[in-house]
Amino acid sequence: MRWRSIVPLVVLGLLFGAAAGAVAVFVPWLPPADAKEADRIHFVFWFTTIICVVIFALVAAVIVYSVLRFRAAPDDDSDGAPIHGHTGLEIAWTAVPAALVTAISIVSAIVLAQSGNAGSDRLVVNVTAQQFAWSFEYPQYGNLTAGALHLPRDRPVELLITSKDVIHSFWVPQFAQKQDAVPGAVNKLVITPTKNGTYPVICTELCGLGHAVMRSEAIVVDRTAFASWVKQQQQAAKAGPGQAGLAVYNSNGCGSCHTLAAAKSTGKVGPDLDKLPADAQKAGKPLEDYTRESIVSPNAYIVPGFSANVMPATFAQLPKDQLDSLVSYLVKSSQKGS
Ligand code: CUA
Repeated sequence: MRWRSIVPLVVLGLLFGAAAGAVAVFVPWLPPADAKEADRIHFVFWFTTIICVVIFALVAAVIVYSVLRFRAAPDDDSDGAPIHGHTGLEIAWTAVPAALVTAISIVSAIVLAQSGNAGSDRLVVNVTAQQFAWSFEYPQYGNLTAGALHLPRDRPVELLITSKDVIHSFWVPQFAQKQDAVPGAVNKLVITPTKNGTYPVICTELCGLGHAVMRSEAIVVDRTAFASWVKQQQQAAKAGPGQAGLAVYNSNGCGSCHTLAAAKSTGKVGPDLDKLPADAQKAGKPLEDYTRESIVSPNAYIVPGFSANVMPATFAQLPKDQLDSLVSYLVKSSQKGS
């Protein structure tokens, strides 16, 4: 090949590279990286993307150049020259991709190892998924539980994720990682948030009728604000039975499916709990019995307009004191509401 024919090839390559690079850079493909692990994962994305852009530019330039330069003339019906192969080229197109794929796996392995290590200062949170809610337990703070994931900024958090019923999956887009919640297994995920804010916690595994509403929040605050949140929660847990019932309601995610004015929840998957007294009447049962039965054996009576087998039966396993305070809380607040 003469040098004069290299020039258009290089120009084509630069054009295709610039176009692909612009698509990569100017379209916001990724959410902002608001965790240390997310920064590392974004680095792997860019490392791979740059390799892809270069290969795309090379291949596209050679194809377009060949189509234009070696096109047959309209009246040329002769065969092309016989070609037997090119050992040097074959070695190159085997060795270069092998080297690139190896480089990507080495970078990925380093990032995975770094991101899986929470260190000794870690905050442990037990994450439990169930149809259709998340609950978060803090074993280092007297098993404090919450319906939202409260996190201190710049401290590694080790999430130990499991499920009570079917497979769910934990995802906060800005933290750039997903982890399955599998019944009978505990999966680890390390997150080190780097920015204060409120982020969506999304279930990203189709898990039933309420999958789309199986959401919570990750609330990232300063260390001091986190410490005072912990103190406040621990005091609330010690407070009256009404508070205890509300805590059970929140930590079991009842609000993601049910509306209850007293708990400021507006879920629409299950029956409106402000209408409990009316539903008990329709079922022909005393309010307290009806409330308890609806929690421990939800299919016993189905409110018209709703379906059986949507409310999980797992709440039958609630400890008795929690169940009692939840029932009395629901009875009291629904009477107040109606
Ligand atoms: Cu849980 Cu989808």
